[in-house]
Amino acid sequence: MSKKEKFSDAGRLRTVSIAGTGSYMPERIMTNAELETMVETSSEWIVTRTGIAERRLAGESETTSDMGAEAARRALADAGVSPEEVDLIVLATITPDLPFPNTACLVQDKIGAKNAACFSLEAACSGFVFAMETARQFVATGAAKTALVVAAEKMSSIIDWTDRETCVLFGDGAGACVLKAAEGDKGLVHAVLGSNGALAELLMVPGGGSRLPFSEEVLRERNHYLKMEGREVFKHAVKSMTAIAQQVCAEKGLTTKDVACIVPHQANIRIIEAIGQRLGEPKEKFFINLDRYGNTSGASVIVALDEAVRSGVIKRGDLVMLLVFGGGFTWGASLLEWSK
Ligand code: UT7
Repeated sequence: MSKKEKFSDAGRLRTVSIAGTGSYMPERIMTNAELETMVETSSEWIVTRTGIAERRLAGESETTSDMGAEAARRALADAGVSPEEVDLIVLATITPDLPFPNTACLVQDKIGAKNAACFSLEAACSGFVFAMETARQFVATGAAKTALVVAAEKMSSIIDWTDRETCVLFGDGAGACVLKAAEGDKGLVHAVLGSNGALAELLMVPGGGSRLPFSEEVLRERNHYLKMEGREVFKHAVKSMTAIAQQVCAEKGLTTKDVACIVPHQANIRIIEAIGQRLGEPKEKFFINLDRYGNTSGASVIVALDEAVRSGVIKRGDLVMLLVFGGGFTWGASLLEWSK
């Protein structure tokens, strides 16, 4: 590239598109029947109140970075990109292998992406969309050429298996995608993100951080586990996800009628149904796999997107919406035209 070409390119934002996706779900299946033997619950309650029939659990020694690395390898293979070509890894998780160093570095080492700068971010169940939008800025400006976005969760490591109000909901898993600059204008179309830290207490792990460092008391009070005010979270999820789905479309002069497939965070089938009713969209427009995986937090929408593409539900040219909500609170919607 000549000096002149280089400067004439300065300031131009590139179109960014998904060049490949991948996901990894651990083999071990935990059914609702198994949970019936652990806490006071019934398969009937879990299915009717959440839509979840079973979830996957990582092996005892299997880490978040192990799952993330496998999803990343599959996304790279799908994109036809070598690990050495990756110059940025952004990974979303609330269940890092270690407090530090960041899990993205651990994935980098496992897949051999030795030319990448790596960092993690935390936006709970909204993690994948926040990570993808962060990586998108790097690729759009030319600061990175090939970005790997990973979302991986070992939720089983922060679940209180004696708390029936939360342990029936979550599962483990990982997803990843490769972002590259694209010719033309097909790719990631538009995104809107939101947050409200005033509601942080409704969904959190209270202990083990700087506020309440790990101690015998934290252990005794079970404060190293996830705590959630389910009913409150439910209400905010429906409200925020409905509003942001409308906003992301309106800002592009579109409505949700223009969207072929909505890939929502997979927390509860009743949340998805309530959003569908408010948007006036049929259930068939929403891709759903929570019956098999439960809520895999930050990984849920990229695992679902990968499955929707591989099963042919999402086709080239389709306008797709990723729609997320999670602890923080955080929420977001990303519109993309599937162009692979
Ligand atoms: O990923 C981040 C976002 N997370 C979410 O979006 C989760 C949002 N919340 C939810 O999905 C739902 O609120 C839950 C699935 C967590 C709970 O469903 P709900 O319909 O809101 O139930 P509830 O909390 O109002 O509880 C109804 C009853 C209660 O009993 P009483 O007080 O009516 O006697 C609970 O104790 O159901 C009871 N209950 C259970 N019963 C059997 C709660 N959990 C269970 C259980 N098995 N596992």
